[in-house]
Amino acid sequence: MTTNDKFAPEGTRLFVTGGAGFIGSNFVRLAIENGFNVTVFDALTYAGNMENLAGVEERFRFVRGDIRDAEAVRNALRESEPRAVIHFAAESHVDRSILGPKIFTETNVLGTHVLIEECRQAGIEKFIHISTDEVYGSLGSTGLFTEESPLDPTSPYAASKAASDLVVQSYAKTYGFPAVILRCSNNYGPFQFPEKLIPLMIIKASNDEKLPVYGDGQNIRDWIYVMDYGTAILRALERGTPGEVYNVGSSNEWKNIDIVRLILEEMDKPLSLITYVKDRPAHDRRYAIDSSKIRRDLGWEPETTFEKGIRQTIDWYMTHRQWWNNIMTGEYLEYYEKNYKPKL
Ligand code: NAD
Ligand code: TYD
Repeated sequence: MTTNDKFAPEGTRLFVTGGAGFIGSNFVRLAIENGFNVTVFDALTYAGNMENLAGVEERFRFVRGDIRDAEAVRNALRESEPRAVIHFAAESHVDRSILGPKIFTETNVLGTHVLIEECRQAGIEKFIHISTDEVYGSLGSTGLFTEESPLDPTSPYAASKAASDLVVQSYAKTYGFPAVILRCSNNYGPFQFPEKLIPLMIIKASNDEKLPVYGDGQNIRDWIYVMDYGTAILRALERGTPGEVYNVGSSNEWKNIDIVRLILEEMDKPLSLITYVKDRPAHDRRYAIDSSKIRRDLGWEPETTFEKGIRQTIDWYMTHRQWWNNIMTGEYLEYYEKNYKPKL
């Protein structure tokens, strides 16, 4: 039996932490479409939104729980008997980590440690750790992050992700725990919480509000469409070698200011809405990913051009006003209690 057969979708149960967040919920839809059975384990913090999973019912179970709670993780693993775990759950926003860093260490480092220990005890056959390119710190105007680039995180968010990445590596090395680490660049697409650059700018433009650009707007990020990341995760699940790290990216570098201008142009809004604001402290200048390893070794390629992806994303936000209105009013926080819990 090849590794491919072992993690073929039919009948394979996945345990997805953070599956009610942005990347997690997009992945859950993709995994279910591909035939996997999915249990989502999510604490439903401010970033977790059951509306992201509205309509997902078949081959799907939801457990509300915290990855820092060993007993809750243990019980959920026992009940759902997954073969593989995809670990998205995290505090994910750099700006919030600057305002309140401690929860980042608690969730991202301690939570990952609790989770992976329970997974080891439970005999999980594959663990996909969703790390980030931000563990590498900042690049100058040239060069790309490779898997061998030193970890040199800048923000409390990135530091907590680097620490959790190292905890996972230590489990792979020490216990032969079958973990694969993915370090991906900035994602964009439907269901992204409107605190992150692209959805925030789309919503502000739509409301004719000022678009706040940090510093000089020349910082560069390497953007990937969230569904392309989803296919990379499926590839890593099916074919990724335990103990290996894979960078994931679309070779799609953009200066922040150019993205903001593009969004305004696409939405037929005036560039005068742009306003430069105080820079983020220790703001990383440039991220750029060399993803040749996953392309070569796992045969993965992204499919969505930025032109197409950004258009689809703007259209999605424009046709899903209720989704972001519920976030703005806080109503989304009641969705679980109102619409979901009674069905359990
Ligand atoms: P998100 O903030 O949208 O979602 C995070 C999810 O984790 C939420 O559903 C939240 O409720 C859940 N969660 C938080 N703390 C938890 C806890 N203690 N126990 C259980 N669940 C908890 O995040 P995202 O943007 O979807 O990112 C998902 C993962 O991908 C994160 O690990 C992040 O570091 C990584 N990542 C994100 C990007 C990006 O561009 N968004 C890029 C690279 C890597
Ligand atoms: P963000 O979406 O927070 O992702 P990350 O910091 O993890 O890369 O920010 C993307 C870039 O956009 C980053 O350089 C900061 C910048 N930015 C702004 O200029 N204005 C904003 O309001 C936000 C949220 C981000």
